[in-house]
Amino acid sequence: MKILLIGSGAREHALAWKIRQSSITDELWLWPGSPTLLAHGKRLDIGNDARWEDLARFAKNQGIDFVVVGPEQPLEDGFADACKLLSLPCFGPEQAAARLESSKAFSKEVMAAAGIPTAAFFVVKGETECRKKAVECLQRTGGAVIKASGLASGKGVFVCFDEQSIDDACKRLYYSGMAKAAETVVIEEVLKGRECSFFVFMGEGAPTPLGFAVDHKRLQDGDVGPNTGGMGCYTPVPWLPLDAGDRVMKAVVHPLTAELSKRGLKYTGCLYVGLMWNDDGFAVVEFNARLGDPEAEVLVLHDRRDWTQLIAMKLGLLPDDPQFVNEADQNTGATVCVVLASSCYPYGDTPTGRYVVPRETFANRDTSLCVFAAAVRSERDELVTGKGRMITVVSHAATFSAARAKSYTYIDGLTKDWTGVQFRTDIGAGLES
Ligand code: AMP
Ligand code: GLY
Repeated sequence: MKILLIGSGAREHALAWKIRQSSITDELWLWPGSPTLLAHGKRLDIGNDARWEDLARFAKNQGIDFVVVGPEQPLEDGFADACKLLSLPCFGPEQAAARLESSKAFSKEVMAAAGIPTAAFFVVKGETECRKKAVECLQRTGGAVIKASGLASGKGVFVCFDEQSIDDACKRLYYSGMAKAAETVVIEEVLKGRECSFFVFMGEGAPTPLGFAVDHKRLQDGDVGPNTGGMGCYTPVPWLPLDAGDRVMKAVVHPLTAELSKRGLKYTGCLYVGLMWNDDGFAVVEFNARLGDPEAEVLVLHDRRDWTQLIAMKLGLLPDDPQFVNEADQNTGATVCVVLASSCYPYGDTPTGRYVVPRETFANRDTSLCVFAAAVRSERDELVTGKGRMITVVSHAATFSAARAKSYTYIDGLTKDWTGVQFRTDIGAGLES
């Protein structure tokens, strides 16, 4: 099959690596791609500023059999709808269903209608109402979470425990370039517990769970420091109850599918369920309409199934095979990934240090140790680090301690002469296998 993968980050690099391994992948096409991604396929020859409709038409004319969408923006913009108009199968939901991520107000309203456990909430408009409801929530419950309803690159959520932090959140939401995402705001009660996420491939046939992962969002060891896009991740999640997956399918995924279907919506793509677990059970923190980053990087190594075939089944291009999809039960061991970020991450713009990464770093011949790139660009035939989250190192082994040791030993070698790189040293620490 001829497959087109949309995106350019480490998640897409991991997906490209996975898609390439399938016996049904004849050609992998990439857009916009990246220097490291392009080792896995060919770039679709259309400009980076192409309109989504034009990209879909170009892909169709190129004879692409189906498209896999990595990031959320194309989905919010209606790329899957453009594909549908051309009968080009797309793994990623249409705009109306992608609102589960792009509108937190819509997502909460759907959860409430479907009876899905989630924090109590209010939807507000404008700074005055936002402050009023947040302060009321704080006084009533001891805390308040303030969330821009629209996409805000992970920067639009504020967990507040005093009036000063509510004030700071309002300043960020209404006066620092986030006003569009914050046209509508969700105020919700603070959930207590441990966070993890659950991933499901949806489409034709029964939904196929991929499992749970934990992303470490804070910059520094011990879960302190500023929030980031994710500094490292592990799967599976040994502190969850054994029936956690079944419980989430029953209380979240099935009611969600039924509620969407009542509204005439069908969800095709990966559903990301953000969860908070405590002694009383769990609640949904958020939905995303895609795989997580860096969660995708651990899942592609941990899940030994052929994702290209799985995706083709979800798109109705191959017959649904329950035997095949249940093979995940045979997954064993542990997978840990660590993100290497530039010195200026997450706030600054100017990294100290610039590192030439040997091309061999990304050869990824060993399926139990892989290196995926985000901010690595090509300069005069060399691969050079940029800024932000740059590289993800992933290892699979029999135990968490062995997987950790493998990732960190590799990172010690890779970063020996690399100044100004930051990474956490405690990803996957203290876990049972
Ligand atoms: P979201 O984008 O909605 O996932 O929020 C980003 C992060 O904010 C989550 O991963 C949580 O760490 C935190 N968060 C969001 N909502 C809540 C909540 N109701 N209670 C506690 N923490 C929350
Ligand atoms: N790792 C968090 C996300 O992808 O949203």
